[in-house]
Amino acid sequence: MLLHVIANPRGDDESRSKRIARAFLEGFSEANPGAEIREIDLYAVDLPMTDAKDANTRLHQARGDLNPAEQKRLDRFCTFIDPLLACDRLLITTPMWNFGPTWKLKQWIDTVVQARITFEYTPNGPKGLLNAKGALVGSRGGAYPDDKDPRESGDFLVPYLTHVMKWIGIKDVRTCFADAVDAKKDQAEAYLRECEAKARELGKTF
Ligand SMILES: Cc1cc2nc3c(=O)[nH]c(=O)nc-3n(C[C@H](O)[C@H](O)[C@H](O)COP(=O)(O)O)c2cc1C
Repeated sequence: MLLHVIANPRGDDESRSKRIARAFLEGFSEANPGAEIREIDLYAVDLPMTDAKDANTRLHQARGDLNPAEQKRLDRFCTFIDPLLACDRLLITTPMWNFGPTWKLKQWIDTVVQARITFEYTPNGPKGLLNAKGALVGSRGGAYPDDKDPRESGDFLVPYLTHVMKWIGIKDVRTCFADAVDAKKDQAEAYLRECEAKARELGKTF
């Protein structure tokens, strides 16, 4: 199953990120007819806030020591973790907001990255418990070359999300971002079509 996590409040007709994601999924479905795709629109669901009681529950889960009330509290997190554990492909769609992901995506990450469920500590170091491929697609107002140090380029989005994915066991992460679309003015549409074509190809081999 491919799990598609959508982290953008803007509508389907205005979001460039969603446009790139649609092309990616078209390519994927063309190469994998009938494959199951599940979507979670983070702006349409009520994610836990990880308040003080939640945070303590999460820490107690990490050491394997939950009381029944905490188990119930943890179940609210598992509602969002279960589809992630069930997927063999994870696609995340997000624009860049202030050099990172949208806050809803951060909230989802704070919901699903959980010790003893999506990762564990072993004598050989931390280990991700998923076994899935990953892809990140979206759009950014500026241009962020992949080969630059984030401290120089300001791209904390792709390095951060790639790191989180690796932490939970997703090693092979591919990316497709439309960069500096607004600055391209008259050429924006042609550039977006180019990005869609790239995303479609990437989706075919996902
Ligand atoms: C709240 C907010 C913060 C943003 N911060 C950045 C940023 O740090 N860097 C950047 O390149 N673009 C930034 N942008 C621009 C968006 O990344 C850009 O418009 C992108 O194409 C939006 O994707 P969408 O069309 O899918 O919504 C920001 C946009 C918003 C609304």
